[in-house]
Parts: sequence; structure tokens; C-alpha cells
Amino acid sequence: MKNVSIIGLLVIGLIFQNCKNNKTQPAVLNNDEIETIEIVDILESEKEAETKWIVPSNFKKMKNPTYATDDNLIIGKALYTKHCISCHGKSGVGDGPKADEFDSDIGDFTSKKFHSQTEGTIYYKSYVGQHDMPNYEKKIPGTNDMWLIVNHIKTLERQE
Ligand code: HEC
Repeated sequence: MKNVSIIGLLVIGLIFQNCKNNKTQPAVLNNDEIETIEIVDILESEKEAETKWIVPSNFKKMKNPTYATDDNLIIGKALYTKHCISCHGKSGVGDGPKADEFDSDIGDFTSKKFHSQTEGTIYYKSYVGQHDMPNYEKKIPGTNDMWLIVNHIKTLERQE
């Protein structure tokens, strides 16, 4: 009889435990809530593409030390073709062969929004990178080469 009541107590204890677990369930987000949060995140990242990527103000204000002469544009295009085309694509829309490997928004170098950024911002993002965007500080030594790439990228803006 004693054993039975101990087992009985255990069973009641287990049931009680289960109820408690069930009660804590609503604190966990359900699928709808998670989806809403993700949509809000996407909207915010579209609105704040620039703030999402924190660019130091001294870089934002940087002046391009090179000029977009014909010769410089030829070098810039060659460097862009060598280093950047595999992800950003020839036209800069982000359709390079490797672009599908990433979830992050690779950007569109032909859009007005992209070109509303300062050259210093484009330079910083290109040089330092983040997430899936590689860092080029070692791969492209000599800062002028990256500015020559920026000159080329500036020519990619879509004319509407
Ligand atoms: C391996 C693929 C890859 C290569 C190669 C690559 N990028 Fe990127 N790039 C990315 C990805 C992915 C992002 C988006 C990163 C993010 O937002 O977190 C990005 C973002 C950028 C941005 C910011 C876009 C925006 O909307 O503001 C610039 C500028 C940029 N890359 C320039 C370059 C330049 C210049 C090169 C070549 C020197 C280059 N990238 C090579 C993958 C690449």
C-alpha cells in the first residue's frame, strides 16, 4: 500500500511538472511571431542599408585621391574584373557566379540608392568588408588601387 501511494505521488508529480512546462510554452515565440520579427528586420535593413554597415565618419568624408581618367578607368575595370566580378557581376547588379552562395544582400552597384553613398563609404566597404564580403586590405595592397576600383564602380550607375 505504501509503495502504491509513492508511485501515485510520483505520477501526480510528473503530471504537475508537465502542466508547468505547458504553462511556460506561451513565453516561447510561435511561428507567426517569429515571421513578423523577420519581416520587420528585412524592412529595417532595406531602409537602413547604410547604418547596418557602420562606416567610420573619417572614411565617409574621404576624398578620392585618384581621377577617373580613361587610363585609370581601364585599370579600375581590370582590377574589378579580377577581384569583384565573381560575386558582384560584370554590370554590378550582384549576379556573379558566387553570388548565390550568400544569404546577405549583396547590393546593387547600378542603383541610385547605392550611388547616394559617398565615395569614401564605398571605398571603406570595399576595402574592409564584413560578413561574406571579403577584406581586401592584404589582397589589394596600395590604397590607390581600391580607389581606382571605386572610380569604375561609379561608372556602373544605371541611367533611367
Ligand atoms: C566572395 C564574394 C564577394 C566578392 C569577391 C566581393 N564582394 Fe563585395 N560584397 C559581397 C557581399 C556578400 C556583400 C554584402 C555584405 C553585407 O551586407 O553584409 C558585399 C557588399 C559590398 C559592398 C556594399 C554594397 C552596398 O550596397 O553598399 C561594396 C561596396 C562591395 N561589396 C564592393 C566590393 C568590391 C570593390 C569587391 C572587389 C574588390 C568586392 N566587393 C568583392 C560579396 C563579395
